[in-house]
Amino acid sequence: MLVLRRLEAKILGRSLHLVEFAGQWTSSERRQFECDMRVIENFVTPAEEAGLLREIEPHISRLPYESSHWDEAIHGYRELERRKWSPQNRVVLDRVSREAFGGRAMPFVHILDLAEVGVIKPHVDSIRFCGHTIAGISLLSDCVMRLQRVAKGPDPPCQSADLLLPRHSLYIMRALARYEFTHEILAREESRFRNRSVERRRRVSVICRNDP
Ligand code: OGA
Ligand code: MN
Repeated sequence: MLVLRRLEAKILGRSLHLVEFAGQWTSSERRQFECDMRVIENFVTPAEEAGLLREIEPHISRLPYESSHWDEAIHGYRELERRKWSPQNRVVLDRVSREAFGGRAMPFVHILDLAEVGVIKPHVDSIRFCGHTIAGISLLSDCVMRLQRVAKGPDPPCQSADLLLPRHSLYIMRALARYEFTHEILAREESRFRNRSVERRRRVSVICRNDP
């Protein structure tokens, strides 16, 4: 059964071993979630990572790390938006656009540099500025992203899932995972996946979104 699921995952380009569910999930809810929150390992090569960073670093390294985002969701970060890219990096971003957006991503790409001590707290991206899909490449470090069902009513949320986002991977979060769950990047000290600690260093994410 597991072999079959692995095979199915391979065919669909999903990596089920990168998700760990917690709380109460039916198998059909899990399947739906796995469609709406995909992680593709080795989406970029080390050479492509280096190419992206060569273009990002000169701009982002001039900014100080900030301690609090406008909505208090992010600490220890710096960020920028970029529209124009070298032809070499454009190839990578076009691949994200095709894979996640059927070629229709927003022209602005969001770069988020999270310091080793940085953290992204649980939030849902604003529906005013961002459409149904969010896709991010992880550079420089692995990390753990936690998705938690948004609480409706007085009871605490009973469904969550941890995703191991390996360096060089792409995640594609859409629909249910994007609207019905908060997402967060765990702090360095809390970065554990399947009871193993995940070494989280400085991480740069390259995030594409679509229009609302
Ligand atoms: C965000 C966010 C996740 C990431 O900027 O809203 O959730 O992968 N970023 O950096
Ligand atoms: Mn977000």
